[in-house]
Amino acid sequence: MELQSLHKKVLVIHGPNLNMLGQREPEIYGDQSLEDINAQLNELSDGLGLEIETFQSNHEGEIVSKIQQTLGSCDGILINPAAYTHTSIAIRDALSLLNIPVVEIHLSNIYKREPFRHNSLIADIAAARISGFGAQGYLLGLEGLAGLIE
Ligand code: DQA
Repeated sequence: MELQSLHKKVLVIHGPNLNMLGQREPEIYGDQSLEDINAQLNELSDGLGLEIETFQSNHEGEIVSKIQQTLGSCDGILINPAAYTHTSIAIRDALSLLNIPVVEIHLSNIYKREPFRHNSLIADIAAARISGFGAQGYLLGLEGLAGLIE
């Protein structure tokens, strides 16, 4: 018999250009790299009793496929869809497939920025959203998601 982990599983998805964090417009997105953020998420997840997997892609279809693959094997999703927030019906539809809580994260406050960033195509299917706390938003989001999963 296979022993199953008792930990709840969370998939953390980082969308396009987030692999460039630290170098990318640091005045907007901060100076931490994606590796820094993932390391902090991993540390926090231990304390929260969660098992996390982190995934970054610059390609919409890869993100859709990754979401589909979690069907039935994941308890929650933390996602910063980055620019796809504002454009991707495909990512929205993939997230809608899963019957698990989704928390939407943005480093910047998207409402203080250009009008085209004000609309999120996943806002109404997300359980919650954090926007404007920089890298700390991911940690706040993971804590909140842990509560939603319980
Ligand atoms: C972002 C905001 C998006 O508008 C932008 O395209 C990003 C990052 C954020 O984290 O603030 O790439 O999602």
